[in-house]
Amino acid sequence: MRVLLVYHSQTGNTKRIAEAIASGIGKECVVKKVSEVKPGDIKRFDVIGFGTGVYFGKPGRSIVEFIERLPKAKKRVFVFATYGIGFFGKKAIKTLETKLEAKGFTVGKAFGCLGFDNWGLLKIVGGINKGKPNEEDIKRAHEFGKALLP
Ligand SMILES: Cc1cc2nc3c(=O)[nH]c(=O)nc-3n(C[C@H](O)[C@H](O)[C@H](O)COP(=O)(O)O)c2cc1C
Repeated sequence: MRVLLVYHSQTGNTKRIAEAIASGIGKECVVKKVSEVKPGDIKRFDVIGFGTGVYFGKPGRSIVEFIERLPKAKKRVFVFATYGIGFFGKKAIKTLETKLEAKGFTVGKAFGCLGFDNWGLLKIVGGINKGKPNEEDIKRAHEFGKALLP
């Protein structure tokens, strides 16, 4: 089973989660920044995970645009995300899942976790979710990856 993890990450949190999920899947897994893949590349994979941080209440623009350009296909997919506040995370995950369902993909369980957020005025208080994703999140992401295999 070949798995592709494609992500949009601005400050590295989602990238770390992508790598942890990949470590649970093993050598069948390829991890790529969204800028490194073309929509047609998904043909070579059985399962695709789409990862993003949340920016101004929305998933990363490049991952949304990538999903919109994908050919319709019957494939297993899932979403993973990191975010400053859970409410926005859930909303962003749902946004991507709805777009993926509209393409005809079968959407599986998502992975989400808080990520360190030091943006804008949050700098004044030293940011929120310090140290996240932490060791426990990384372990949870690894286990999530493991559970994806049949
Ligand atoms: C410019 C910017 C805007 C953000 N806006 C939101 C937001 O609206 N809601 C939220 O929950 N988190 C927000 N965050 C926090 C990020 O979603 C969080 O830090 C996430 O882990 C970033 O993922 P990344 O490191 O992969 O880019 C924002 C972060 C940045 C840098």
